[in-house]
Amino acid sequence: MNEKGCILVTGGLGYIGSHTVVALQERGYEVVVVDNLSNSRLDVLRLIKRLSGTEPQFYQADCTNREEMARVFDDVFTIDGIIHFAAHKAVGESVEKPLKYYRNNIDGLLTILEFAQAFGIQNFVFSSSATVYGTASTFPVTEQTPLSAPTSPYGATKLFAEQILQSVANAYKEFRCLSLRYFNPIGAHPSGLLGEFPQGVPNNLLPYITQTVSGVLRELTVYGSDYPTPDGTPLRDYLHVCDLARAHVLALEYLERTQDEVGLQFVNIGAGRGVSVLEIIETFEQVTGKHVPYRIGPRRSGDVAEIWADIKKAWRLLGWKPEYSLEDALRDAWKWEQTIRG
Ligand SMILES: NC(=O)c1ccc[n+]([C@@H]2O[C@H](COP(=O)([O-])OP(=O)(O)OC[C@H]3O[C@@H](n4cnc5c(N)ncnc54)[C@H](O)[C@@H]3O)[C@@H](O)[C@H]2O)c1
Repeated sequence: MNEKGCILVTGGLGYIGSHTVVALQERGYEVVVVDNLSNSRLDVLRLIKRLSGTEPQFYQADCTNREEMARVFDDVFTIDGIIHFAAHKAVGESVEKPLKYYRNNIDGLLTILEFAQAFGIQNFVFSSSATVYGTASTFPVTEQTPLSAPTSPYGATKLFAEQILQSVANAYKEFRCLSLRYFNPIGAHPSGLLGEFPQGVPNNLLPYITQTVSGVLRELTVYGSDYPTPDGTPLRDYLHVCDLARAHVLALEYLERTQDEVGLQFVNIGAGRGVSVLEIIETFEQVTGKHVPYRIGPRRSGDVAEIWADIKKAWRLLGWKPEYSLEDALRDAWKWEQTIRG
């Protein structure tokens, strides 16, 4: 067996999952991917192999389906840890189709946790989100910042998921879990070979910018320029997806090396600074030499004026801090856009 052990990665063909699979394999882990392809493509397996030299073992299976999960867990000889990415993530869609989100995100987590318990798998890393801080009013947010009412069904699934994990950690001392609260992952693998495949009109700023510049979309709308921020546009915390992927590897290594009881720990993963929408546009124009056509529109409901992370705990616990700059992330996002537009 591989010296670093075998990690089950659910949602491993998605945007963050695929970059994490590459990072795990580069670190010497054996990886088994489970994905139902609801928001990804089978040929990502080939792209992963081009980058890491190894194609992970793959099961096209749904985390909410007990029979399909039984097949995976029975089949794989030993699983040393689980990273659970699989979830639906479109905030707007979750408002329109809440049951789809509760069913997939909550049932998927419960099913994976039941199998983890049945098979004695103790190390668990969960994809949480800055959305659990809702409308926080002091910045930067630390892991101690009080959580507030979710602003969407998607946000509610992340909050409930953390509560489920807390109950499991309270009940079973052997369960060891890190819930990583991601801020805004952007960019793509620097090779230009791996990134996020567009599905419909993007929800997030970066794919919106790259698709506008490449002519797929006509213009970017900046939602609101009258926020109480330096240039009036909202501040967010953007980090390179490869930095986020590396945080998962370090999270697993932390769980493996820590002798003491771990329980459930929450860890912010962000760049640790707030950047405005207009700063992103300007920096994108500087690093790519491309003009971003945009117009200012009204505020969008549910958007908070600002949020960024205090990332000291990630450094203290995992030895993680971002290595890529905002400029790197924007350059890599543009490189990826050019790859997919061929
Ligand atoms: N991208 C972000 O901005 C962001 C921010 C915070 C948290 N997150 C969380 O990180 C995780 C990964 O996000 P992403 O951006 O890579 O999304 P993604 O949609 O690219 O990846 C999710 C993957 O999970 C798969 N999947 C979904 N439901 C499944 C199920 N029931 N069974 C098996 N596979 C399933 C999809 O096919 C997809 O490949 C999600 O849990 C998301 O909520 C993402």
